[in-house]
Amino acid sequence: MASITLFVGSVFGNAENLASEVKNDIEQQGHSAVIAEAPTLEHVNSADNLLFISSTTGQGDIPENLLPLVLQMQMQSQFPMLTGKTVGVVALGDSSYGDTFCGAGRQIDVLVQELNATVTEPRLDVDACEHFEPYEAVAPWLQKWLQHL
Ligand SMILES: Cc1cc2nc3c(=O)[nH]c(=O)nc-3n(C[C@H](O)[C@H](O)[C@H](O)COP(=O)(O)O)c2cc1C
Repeated sequence: MASITLFVGSVFGNAENLASEVKNDIEQQGHSAVIAEAPTLEHVNSADNLLFISSTTGQGDIPENLLPLVLQMQMQSQFPMLTGKTVGVVALGDSSYGDTFCGAGRQIDVLVQELNATVTEPRLDVDACEHFEPYEAVAPWLQKWLQHL
């Protein structure tokens, strides 16, 4: 059984709803999952496995509810604070935004790799133009990600 902490970036609730579905799915498979509310570095440091689920806002920007944590993590970038932790990144976006498609998820992906996270599955980008229901795209990715824990 693995223990997973979810970090969610959401403006209008799509990523939040997805995170709830993912949490249920993880728990149904016998693992434990908690969504970090108002996430801080303490949540990061105490997590065994981290799953980021973030939409993109503005022009490739990280939603405000996740941004303070990401900025704090960026300030730690000299330190391999994610060594030994498995991290997954699920990015919600909309390809009609062009170059900034899934920009928040891409920033988080780069950051966690700088911090020496163990990345077992490549980041999943979910395009709102293709998936009305993002969970459909995430479920198979999640199965693979969980197998490594
Ligand atoms: C104001 C605004 C700006 C957005 N900017 C981007 C963007 O730069 N890149 C992208 O891939 N998606 C962008 N999106 C699409 C959202 O990421 C997408 O709709 C997502 O599902 C929203 O999830 P949320 O409700 O959790 O925030 C934007 C949406 C809005 C409303």
